[in-house]
This record gives sequence, structure tokens and C-alpha cells, in this order.
Amino acid sequence: MSKKIVLSGARPTGEIHLGNYFGALHNWVKLQDDYDCHFFIADWHAMTTGYEDTSQLGDYVTSLMADFIACGLDPEKATIFLQSEVMEHAELFLLFAMNTPLSWLERCPTYKDQLNQLKEKDITTYGFLGYPCLQAADILIYNADFVPVGEDQLPHLELTREIARRFNHLYQPIFSEPQPLLTETKVLPGTDGRKMSKSYGNTISFADTPEVVAKKVMSMLTDPARIRKDDPGHPEVCSVFSFHKVFSAFEIEHIETQCRRGEIGCVACKRKLQKRLLAFHQPIHEKRTELLQDKAGLRQVLRQGSEKAGLKAKATLKAAKRAMRIDY
Ligand code: TRP
Ligand code: SF4
Repeated sequence: MSKKIVLSGARPTGEIHLGNYFGALHNWVKLQDDYDCHFFIADWHAMTTGYEDTSQLGDYVTSLMADFIACGLDPEKATIFLQSEVMEHAELFLLFAMNTPLSWLERCPTYKDQLNQLKEKDITTYGFLGYPCLQAADILIYNADFVPVGEDQLPHLELTREIARRFNHLYQPIFSEPQPLLTETKVLPGTDGRKMSKSYGNTISFADTPEVVAKKVMSMLTDPARIRKDDPGHPEVCSVFSFHKVFSAFEIEHIETQCRRGEIGCVACKRKLQKRLLAFHQPIHEKRTELLQDKAGLRQVLRQGSEKAGLKAKATLKAAKRAMRIDY
């Protein structure tokens, strides 16, 4: 039996941080063995909100590829590629753009949300409005069965299914409707307790050196009600504790009890985390640093992935044009 097809993408917007890793990437790594996986760097998507300054995009593409591989994605197992190196995405996007009603795009909840949130940028552009159409092309061009995405992307996936249905109805049924793959994710807050995000400056990334990581751990926000180290603590409000849930799962009850009874001080508790976090972080950091010594090599591997993806994309595009009777 052939493996089911999985596809997902990530925007090259800078270094991968632990929030990205535990939110998505570590699941991608797990999926590689059981599915025919396609993972891509969505550089055109990055331009839908970051069109003004594109000067760093190339570097971000290369460093994301380094992060991918350092975190365990394997180009021998999964097809890892760059969106803009598979031109067929653009052509299918154009064809979808012809028959996607404007109202579908305008009513997309993430569209309205982002317009409100990204006030400092002018994203009242055609590209930003049409981005779910591009995403539909990304997914349908590989006939993906499953798309591992976060909750925030569910409306886009629903739109993808609607676009597939509309195409199948207007022309011929060639697209299958992809399903979301809601994998278990571990939520790591930022060092200040808010959501980990580059814009809050509260991330721990694989580009950070072990020294920087060690410092960031020591400066993490803990229970503000604890003044002396034998004060009873409230782990539920402490970001160090959220990290322990991921890195010290085997003794989490012990840490919780010690904290509540005031039997462990925050400094000692952070030291414990430091050790475990670094044991996880350091090998990935080193691998990434080593990979980035040979940027041309990384880009070469990415290009090979794009060529492989291109074969499939070409075949689907051809079928779509035949279904539309525009294969003249
Ligand atoms: N929109 C996704 C994001 O912003 C990236 C993305 C683009 C994607 N195309 C995709 C994800 C296709 C899954 C499938 O993170
Ligand atoms: Fe947080 Fe640990 Fe301090 Fe408790 S002891 S508040 S879990 S850092």
C-alpha cells in the first residue's frame, strides 16, 4: 500500500525558535517515516506580509533549511523544497484565482484578524488577500491527504477544500480534499510568559549559543509572589515550570510539589532546567552551525528537493489544464 501524502510549509522569517519547534517541526520529523512527506519553505508566502524588505529573504531560506535538517528532517525521507523553485505553484495559483469568489477570501477570519493586528504594515494588497488561493495551490498540486497545521491555519485548509470542490464541480473531479492533521503539540511560552514570538523578543532559538541560552533561562520569569526561596510557589504561573513540563516530564510531579512546598528555590529550579534544555539544544545548535558553513551545499540539497517536487507538480498542473480543456 502506498503511503498517504503529507504536506506542510513554513515561512522563512528568521531563525527557528523552540516555540516553532514544539509547535510544528518536531511533529514533521515524526511523520517522515510513515507518510510520503512534502515540506517546503514558503518564500512567496513570506512576501505576502513582508514585501517591503526582501533583502534578507535569501539568507532566511538558507538558515531555515539548516534548522530543518539540524532538527531532524531528512531529505532522503521527505521531499524538502523551496516554493519559488517550483514555478507550477504559481501557475495553479493563477488558475484558482480565476474562479475563486472574492467573498470567500474576504470572509476568511485570518484575513480580518491580520489586517487588524499588523497595523504597522500596509497589507491591503492583492497578494495578501489572495494568499489562501496560493496555499490551496501548494497543497492540491501534490494531492496531499493530510496537512499538519495549527488551529490558526484551519480556515485556510477549509478554503482549500472549497477551492478543490469548486474546481472538481466546474471541470472534472481531479483534486482530493485534504484533511488537517492535528498533531499533539507542546506549548512553550516565551521567557517572559507570553507566547513565544520573535516580535516580543522572548524567544530561545537554535541560533543562540549555549551561553546565551543559559543566560536566557536564568532571566526567565517565575512566580512573582515568591520573594524568599522557601515561600510556597505557584508553578501554574511560572514559565520555567512550563519548560520543565517538556524537558523534565519524568519528574514533573516532584518539581511541582517541591515548588508548592517551598522546598526548592527558583535559582536551583532554573539550573536544573538549564542543564536539560542545553542537552537538547546544544547538538541541534552545533549541527546547524556546521551546516551553515556550507551554504551552497544546503541550497543544492534544497534545489534537488525542488526538482523532485517539480515532477509531481508538473503532472498535476497538466491534469488540471486538461480538465479545464486548456491543454492546447
Ligand atoms: N500559511 C502557512 C503559514 O503562514 C505556510 C503555508 C503556506 C502552508 N502554504 C502552506 C502550510 C501549505 C501548510 C500547507 O505558516
Ligand atoms: Fe517556577 Fe521552579 Fe520557581 Fe516554582 S521553583 S516558581 S517552578 S522556577
